[in-house]
Amino acid sequence: MKSKFFFASIKPSKNLIFSSLSPKHLSFFNSILKPNELITDASDLPRYNIDWMDKYHGSATLVLQPHTVSQISSILSYCNSNNLPVVPQGGNTGLVGGGTPVYDELILSLKNLNKIKAFDSNNDVLSCEAGCILQDLSVYVKDFGYDVPLDLGARGSCFIGGNLATNAGGKYFIRHGSLRGNLLGLQVVLANGTVLNMDSGLRKDNTGYDLRQIFVGSEGTLGIITACDIICKKKTKQQKLMVFTCDSFAKVLALHDLAKTNLNLNLSAFEYMDHNAYKIVMENIPRIINPFPNKENGHFVSLVEIISNQNIDQIIEGFYNIIESQKIFKDAVISENENQFEDLWKIRESVAESCNKIGLVYKYDLSLQIDKFDELTNVIRKKTEGLAYTTGYGHIGDGNIHINVGVFDKKNNEIVEEILEPFIFQWLRERKGSISAEHGLGLMKGKYLNYCKSPEVIALMKNVKTMLDPKGILNPYKVLN
Ligand code: FAD
Ligand code: MLT
Ligand code: ZN
Repeated sequence: MKSKFFFASIKPSKNLIFSSLSPKHLSFFNSILKPNELITDASDLPRYNIDWMDKYHGSATLVLQPHTVSQISSILSYCNSNNLPVVPQGGNTGLVGGGTPVYDELILSLKNLNKIKAFDSNNDVLSCEAGCILQDLSVYVKDFGYDVPLDLGARGSCFIGGNLATNAGGKYFIRHGSLRGNLLGLQVVLANGTVLNMDSGLRKDNTGYDLRQIFVGSEGTLGIITACDIICKKKTKQQKLMVFTCDSFAKVLALHDLAKTNLNLNLSAFEYMDHNAYKIVMENIPRIINPFPNKENGHFVSLVEIISNQNIDQIIEGFYNIIESQKIFKDAVISENENQFEDLWKIRESVAESCNKIGLVYKYDLSLQIDKFDELTNVIRKKTEGLAYTTGYGHIGDGNIHINVGVFDKKNNEIVEEILEPFIFQWLRERKGSISAEHGLGLMKGKYLNYCKSPEVIALMKNVKTMLDPKGILNPYKVLN
């Protein structure tokens, strides 16, 4: 398969130590898997080989979809002995080219490991396999009166194993903290097939090194996550979303500050979108509802989610009066029911999809001091003027900005990429930011790791990789490339 947008600048050279799939290998996989657990049909392969953005194209000729941990153990043990590289894949919604092959690595899909095992309401712990879809988990724990500690726009497709492998962020970081902080148990299969059970089921366990955590955010390079135990929180009785327009980014920051001060634990999410992000959603998402039609250019939209077990309207009224008296916003809407709540959230959650519809997008998920968010967006906008549009949006409450740069004409893709990289990572380094707040490094950013990690830290990361996966068969070319 020929890659559409895959530039030489980001494609590492093929590791010649790896074997290519042979009939002998195939007959081994056929001996341990049922026919419906192997995909070789050319018409079925593209959705595993191509990522959600249609940006990273691999050319695997085999996808394995085992149902059990012991099958995964046998697969890895065999691949390790035969130098066969493996790409673990969850819902394939990743945004950095981590879940698709670079060459013809075989794909190990976790899709069939999708059992929800139990919910323990004494300890507030959900136990499930890695291939469970995030939204299914959310629906499951809702019946017990709980929330899973993560929510994001790809909830209907991404798997909890993929979420852990990327340490995904999402919109409720303010309320739940990071996913890694809500992880209790983890089962992992190592490159040589060893199964590690790290699931004591205990809230507190200080016996030695916390090995679970090195697999969280390791993007499939250290082991295959096969099951997990996740801590969930009781649902609050009421939740509402307030959406504001502000005429400057300084006012967004003032609004954020007032929300933290006055709402405190009632604040569950604080997100923003600049005018370009808002406009692109309105223009590209069918049936989207625009609460602020006819807005002039230049405004910022902030979304403030409030939760409470009692008197939510009183809390909202008190907060509204404070910010109105300080003239922080221009317009405001407040969700009156669940449909409106979802319709308003949909605006923010549709930025990724709307940019994708226009064409190639260079996506950045950066950690940065929040008062620098709009400055960086404007720097990028200016540098790519005439060649691309730039949107700034993201999770203000977490210090995580997203910048999408969409190229108008694909003949300019490479020119835009050269303008952006490594400039943007350099800009960030000078301000002590991180080149990935939540999406990970994948194939896209592995080579820029030195922009936020020291040589000593990178050397230790490489040692850990060598110890756990000496032949480098797990997700090669990703993270450390
Ligand atoms: P995949 O894309 O299949 O894989 C991602 C990485 O994890 C790959 O490196 C893969 O090899 C590895 N991997 C997958 N499963 C396993 C496993 N079981 N064991 C070991 N390694 C594995 N991300 C955020 O952080 N916050 C957001 O708000 C957010 N919003 C999004 C909105 C949209 C519309 C889309 C399309 C994506 C969004 N993402 C977001 C990115 C993406 O959804 C997350 O990174 C998600 O966690 C990936 O899960 P997945 O199951 O799709 O993993
Ligand atoms: C988001 O916050 O919307 C996601 O991380 C996806 C994106 O970056 O577009
Ligand atoms: Zn995000």
